[in-house]
Order: sequence, then C-alpha cells, then structure tokens
Amino acid sequence: MKKEIIYLIILVIFISLFGLLVLKKQVKKENTNPYQEFNFYKESNLERYKKYYLNNNYSYKDVVLRVNMNLDNSFYTNTKEINNFDLLMLVNKYNYVNNNFKPTDLVKVSKFAVNNMYLNKTCMEAFINLASNALKEGYNIRAISTYRTYDYQNNLYNNYAKKDGVDKADTYSARPGFSEHHTGLAIDVDNIKTNFNNFENTNEFKWMQENAYKYGFILRYPSDKVDITGYMYEPWHYRYVGREIAKIIKEKNLTFEEYYYEYLDKG
Ligand code: DAL
Ligand code: ZN
Repeated sequence: MKKEIIYLIILVIFISLFGLLVLKKQVKKENTNPYQEFNFYKESNLERYKKYYLNNNYSYKDVVLRVNMNLDNSFYTNTKEINNFDLLMLVNKYNYVNNNFKPTDLVKVSKFAVNNMYLNKTCMEAFINLASNALKEGYNIRAISTYRTYDYQNNLYNNYAKKDGVDKADTYSARPGFSEHHTGLAIDVDNIKTNFNNFENTNEFKWMQENAYKYGFILRYPSDKVDITGYMYEPWHYRYVGREIAKIIKEKNLTFEEYYYEYLDKG
C-alpha cells in the first residue's frame, strides 16, 4: 500500500513537471517576436506588423516586407519626399520628388528615340546598347517617353483624370512628383510600327522579355504585381537598375519595390 502511494506521488510530480515545461514553452512562444528574425525588420514598425498580420493572410516575412513598403497604408498616404538622385532611387506611390527635382547627368538620347528625349547618362548608354543589339537581330526598340518634368506629369495626369476620373487615372498614370519618369531612369518604348498600347503583342516585346535584363533594365509594372506597384500592367515601361540587380529581379520574379525593401532599404 505504501509503495503505491509513493508511485502515485512520483507520477503526480512527473505530470506536474511536464505540464510546467509545456506552459513555459507556450509562454516563451507568445513572448518571442516572429518579425525580428528578418534583417529588414524595423522596431518602429512592430505595431503595424502585428495589425497587418491579424488583418491579412501573409507570412511573417511578407508582413514585414509589405509594411516596410507602406502597403498597410492606402496609396498616396504616409508619403515620403526623396530628392537625392541615386541610380537605385525608388519613386512610387509612396515616395515622391519635389517639383524642383532634376536627375543628375541628364543627357539627350542620341538615337533610337523620338525627338527631345532625355535620360540619365548611365541609363541612356545602357539603352543605346540595348537598342543597337536589338536592331542587329532585326528588332526595332524606340524610346517614346523618357524623363518628364513635374509640370509635364502634372498636365498629363490632370488630363487623364478629367477624361477618366481620378480612380481610373490612378491605375495607369502617376500623380505629379510620383512618376518614375522624373528620375531619368525610366523609358517607355514601342517598335515604331505599332502603338505602344499594343507593344505586348510584338516580337520586340518578346525580345525585351528575353534580353532587357542583360542591359540592366526591368519590366517595372508586371501584370501579377498590381497590388504592390499600384499600376496596371505596362509592357512598354522599363526601369534601369543595372545588370546585376536586373538579373536577380528577373530570376526571382520581383518588383523593384520587393527588391528594394529586402536588400537596399536603410531607412
Ligand atoms: N504610367 C506610369 C505609371 C507613370 O505615369 O509614371
Ligand atoms: Zn512609363
């Protein structure tokens, strides 16, 4: 009888210890911060991560990246002014340049362009290289819209908004200050023969899909990333980011936003 009591006491002690261990693990799990394992984690965004995680169905990594991108705020809210030119600057619906901004090394595009097109020199040289090699293979790539001033974009956007309404215009045109064309690093192209709206159906588009990255250009507004870029698919709009990054962006099927906030953002 005494023996049984001792066994029972030992059993109770074991069960209690086990229970304590499970409880301790549970408490530890609740206290760890699942967002901070990513090196792009920002302490100042912690409350936003928690809220975004609860209201959406994203992994912890995507939550951190998307909140850092500002996607927990509507487009054109919580915006940031960035006026330092940089070959890797990000201008989008949250990051804008002021109306005095001018890219460094702005030069006239010497060939493969309609009249009076300007680009940053590095971007221009890469584009000429791209268009020259395309031509050697029988493909015509021509720049039809490159650097735009604030005033130019202001007119453009206001005309679209008048014609289609603000909501529709916002799906295809940037508000002044928010256009990547202000950077001198973005180019709209056509193939000379077909309207740029139909560029997707040309052999030149196929060539661009296979080759643009080799010259440092990325398709900036892909069809499957509208929720990130805020713009409809634009098969004609390319952004210069340099060869190394263009290759990674293509291989990993990223937007410039995704690349920027995972690898470049220091803010
Ligand atoms: N169409 C692009 C988004 C722009 O207006 O800059
Ligand atoms: Zn464009």
